[in-house]
Amino acid sequence: MPKEVLSAIQPTGDMHYGNYFGAVQNWVKLQENYDCAFGVVDYHAMTMPYDHKKLRNNTWELITNLIAVGIEPGNLFIQSLIPEHTELTWILNCFTSYGQLTRMTQFKDKSAKSSEDSGEGFISSGLLNYPVLQAADILLYRPKYVPVGKDQEQHLELTRNIAQRFNAQMGVNYLPVVEALFTPASKIRSTADPTKKMSKSAGEKHYISVFADEARIRKQIRSAVTDTGEINDGAMSEGVDNLFGLLAAAKKMEIHGTLMEDYKNGSLRYADLKEEVANALVEISNGFIAKKQALNVDKKALKEQIKQSSSEIRKIAQETIREVKELSGLMNVRF
Ligand code: TYM
Repeated sequence: MPKEVLSAIQPTGDMHYGNYFGAVQNWVKLQENYDCAFGVVDYHAMTMPYDHKKLRNNTWELITNLIAVGIEPGNLFIQSLIPEHTELTWILNCFTSYGQLTRMTQFKDKSAKSSEDSGEGFISSGLLNYPVLQAADILLYRPKYVPVGKDQEQHLELTRNIAQRFNAQMGVNYLPVVEALFTPASKIRSTADPTKKMSKSAGEKHYISVFADEARIRKQIRSAVTDTGEINDGAMSEGVDNLFGLLAAAKKMEIHGTLMEDYKNGSLRYADLKEEVANALVEISNGFIAKKQALNVDKKALKEQIKQSSSEIRKIAQETIREVKELSGLMNVRF
């Protein structure tokens, strides 16, 4: 049976509020009504210069973080435990336009960064192929919906193109044309530079960890940029809009309403807005930190559980690979 909802996250450090409000919070809710699978995609983390001594730890750390914020362990898998991801990637590569890959915004941004970080102008072809691996992550489970942040929109469009091209060539309607699900907080900005999205790759001050302690959260919000100095015809600045967005995402609608009134009649003090945003995030983070501590008591059992769920979820991937190989004229062994 295919999954109804599929999404994934890279193990490149800890989870930040962009990940949480843009995607993961929605995953937690979707689990109540849909059959879901969520992956920690470690093959993706190799596309940029990375530290192989840290990758495995980062993967387990992110698994623990996801469970602490409310993801069911049975819905989680680790990508490198399911080799079908790489097998389907090769097949889908042959249905992907090379030109379209070179035009991906993330490829352009990240290739510049890779070139810089490597210190020798190195850009791996894994970085170019990354969206095909992402298409394989999705299509292996033949889901209807993919809940992600706005930055993934172009990758989902590519996934649809690949599925359509495959279906057209094989004369079937096998791979689904998936739909993205966005939250109202689908683009959380960096508080240090609201012209950028919140992200780990931009550096420490550009993201707020969901597991940060109170002092750090308060410090980061207190120093949030509210006015970028641009003339914007009286429209709300990106920094202030972002702070209101965080308050709404944290479900503090009453306070949001009151402060918005103040903003409209010109009496809002940014310090008050920041104080409320910090209170809301601290409340969420404190709850998650407590849950994480409890999970860390028996790490061995948790790892076993995730290996088990990965092997259960793999069965769908095996079924898809068998059917895709059958349709493509490749050889199959029976599982
Ligand atoms: P990643 O690991 O960068 O981020 C995980 C999820 O968090 C969302 N997100 C944001 N949403 C709102 N505001 C932000 N500032 C913000 N930053 C991150 C992302 O949109 C994403 O939903 N390529 C993907 C991982 C991936 C994937 C997949 C996703 C691999 N295979 C299959 C869906 C389906 C990525 O790098 O996300």
